[in-house]
Amino acid sequence: MTNLLLTGIGELVTNDPEREGLLGVVTDAAVAVKGGRIAWVGPETELLREFRELPELDGAGRAVLPGFVDSHTHLVFGGNRADEFARRVRGESYQEIMAAGGGIMSTVASTRATDSDTLLDEAVRRAQRMLGMGTTTVEVKSGYGLEVETELRMLEVANSIAEYVPIDVVTTFLGAHVVPAEYEDDRDAYLRLIVEEMLPAAGGMATFCDVFCDDGAFAVDEARVILAAAAEQGLAARLHANQLGHSGGASLAAELGAITADHLDHLTDADIAGLLAAGTVAVLFPTVSFSLRLDPPPARRLWDAGVPVAIATDCNPGTSYVENMQFVIAAATLTTGLTPEESVWAATRGGARALQFDDRGWIKPGTVADLVMLEADSYLEIPYRPGTDLVRMVIKGGEAVVS
Ligand code: NIG
Ligand code: FE
Repeated sequence: MTNLLLTGIGELVTNDPEREGLLGVVTDAAVAVKGGRIAWVGPETELLREFRELPELDGAGRAVLPGFVDSHTHLVFGGNRADEFARRVRGESYQEIMAAGGGIMSTVASTRATDSDTLLDEAVRRAQRMLGMGTTTVEVKSGYGLEVETELRMLEVANSIAEYVPIDVVTTFLGAHVVPAEYEDDRDAYLRLIVEEMLPAAGGMATFCDVFCDDGAFAVDEARVILAAAAEQGLAARLHANQLGHSGGASLAAELGAITADHLDHLTDADIAGLLAAGTVAVLFPTVSFSLRLDPPPARRLWDAGVPVAIATDCNPGTSYVENMQFVIAAATLTTGLTPEESVWAATRGGARALQFDDRGWIKPGTVADLVMLEADSYLEIPYRPGTDLVRMVIKGGEAVVS
């Protein structure tokens, strides 16, 4: 049923800037879908006769939003790190565990040792749960292989998820997550491996190239070399930047005009001005600070400066094993000082901006009909009821895929 007439919508979040308010809310609304795309949106009293023929679904006064766009995840990985979580809760820091050989390298070891079928099976289950909780587009990174074979295997697995779950997947090459232990004494050799062997293969398998530019990961000059080589392979730049300290990653993102700069927990006003001038989207993770029990990201400062803000799960086994974008909205509202409206925008249109999509994250004629119907009459209930799955129905390309 890629043709659909959704009526009786109590509150429709359109994110259409031509409508009133940040979320462009229409009350008592209807949405017509033809061929999987939005054909008409407006107050139901104004519905045109031609759309009355479409198969109708009654929203019974509930709220409908654009599907969530989770613009940053590490969804493919082997094993888990519940043991490290327990150590952190007792007082060890993320960096201490990383320096002692745990952290990312521990997931690298388990991912290398896990066959592709198992990686895919586990990633598909995570994606299925995400879809069930309203995520209709998800970005997925490599970065737990750190050797040619496993990095490419991770991208292959990520690119296969959508064969099993009706969710759109965008992939990112993150071979520069950390320098693997076996190259510790020869970082340049690992950089050469990325540039000469991984990137030429990853070019046809991913949309973006990301680099973890931070203390204990990659330096600014190293990240610059990698992202330049990535651009030659047609991969657009993203950066894990300024998560652990003032790494210079945010200013590199501005210098390169990166599509996104992600994390950004440590920012100067000059960093913010640079991101604004570059048109870079700030992708923030309120559930990382929640999971690591750190201060929340500076969402308010970025938003007030005019930098486009996205929020995402960062779903990964180390810093945020979170699959639920509704919970991310709640964490953003309750910890970062974003309003409920800003948090909802950042999880939908903001996420789409981060992935360079014009055709989703908002509901207006021509956009894909990816819609979430809540078991509630307002989007406000998402941050108001943290941890509750309020999704009643998910519509992907005009089809009810979860109900
Ligand atoms: O986005 N910051 C680096 N990478 C991940 C964490 C990965 C891990 O701990 O496994 C992040 O937080
Ligand atoms: Fe991340």
